[in-house]
Amino acid sequence: MVREWDPRTASSAEIASLLDTLNAVLAVDLPRDPPWQENSLREYLAEVMPGERRISWVAQAEPATNGTPGAILGQVHVLLLGDIGVLEVLVHPSERRSGLGRELVRTAARRVYQEGFQSIGVEVVGDTPAVAFYEAIGFTKEYVETRSVLDLTAVDWTELAEMAAGIGAGYHLEFHPGGPPDELIEAYARAKAEVRDVEDGELRPSSYDPQRLRDSLDCLHRRGMKPYIVLAQHEQTGEVAGLTEVVVPAQHPTRADQYDTIVVQDHRGYGIDRAIKARMLLELRSAEPQLVEVQTWNAQANEAMLKVNAELGYRPDREWCEYSVDVADLVHRLDAGR
Ligand SMILES: CC(C)(COP(=O)(O)OP(=O)(O)OC[C@H]1O[C@@H](n2cnc3c(N)ncnc32)[C@H](O)[C@@H]1OP(=O)(O)O)[C@@H](O)C(=O)NCCC(=O)NCCS
Repeated sequence: MVREWDPRTASSAEIASLLDTLNAVLAVDLPRDPPWQENSLREYLAEVMPGERRISWVAQAEPATNGTPGAILGQVHVLLLGDIGVLEVLVHPSERRSGLGRELVRTAARRVYQEGFQSIGVEVVGDTPAVAFYEAIGFTKEYVETRSVLDLTAVDWTELAEMAAGIGAGYHLEFHPGGPPDELIEAYARAKAEVRDVEDGELRPSSYDPQRLRDSLDCLHRRGMKPYIVLAQHEQTGEVAGLTEVVVPAQHPTRADQYDTIVVQDHRGYGIDRAIKARMLLELRSAEPQLVEVQTWNAQANEAMLKVNAELGYRPDREWCEYSVDVADLVHRLDAGR
């Protein structure tokens, strides 16, 4: 049975059951990824940025004869932002190939259509059944990135300390757990805005103006995801010349996510990229001692960043693709196939 579901009011048993399904999916599709924990999972599923909405549905097994509610065997949610709906679908491995994935997407797509949105986008992990699934129901590949993973147990910390110190004269590095301090928010947002064109098409939306940046940091905190920032400040002007962001999610605190790394055009060629990333890893070693891996996503064309990541010890893991589809076409196709 597929029904609309609100993580804010869901029972703890439902949240736990969804977590079981998510971890069963991970064990099959991404066996080297750490399993998720229940910490802040409800908030992760419920909280959104101002102006955005997430609508969720679950597929639940029938109750047992003694009345115990059935397990959550599948879930879909769609995040409505701008003019696009971003979809995520999960089906328990034991329930696959029986049409449940298609049914969940159809349910979400109908709502996205009714809400007047044009297109649906989805992140598809390479080398998993999701690729054949989304292609079978008419999605088209728009963009490919490579995910790379750094194993912190294999890092040479002395070498990393040298990299962190290897920055041109006239810059200094600052570490800010939690996000940039308020007095630097504007300079920070300017640095992000300047490389907007370069970053366009990346999977994670960046925040370009100070208010949006504040909102996005606030949203991360509410979702149980702790941001850390290292920035390079240009001493002469006070400008933020470079920045790197890593987020440690309460849901999988042994594997952190690298978000944006930016070096402003005028400040390239001074070793800032390497130094800020190295300094970040050194800081995380003491701030988050449980951390064993960091994952990052890069466009294949971004050779400079791939080179620095390889020097730091990142190893390419798998493709991570963005697919999209026209909502009306999708609804017609899935309704016709019933
Ligand atoms: C992708 C996913 C939702 C598909 O769910 P499902 O219930 O098995 O999908 P359906 O049964 O509705 O399949 C619909 C069609 O997709 C295609 N398809 C689905 N899985 C496929 C596979 N493993 N190989 C080939 N085609 C496949 C088929 O054309 C299928 O139709 P058919 O069974 O009549 O041939 C499911 O595999 C899943 O949850 N994957 C994990 C998603 C994810 O987010 N993973 C990464 C982070 S954990």
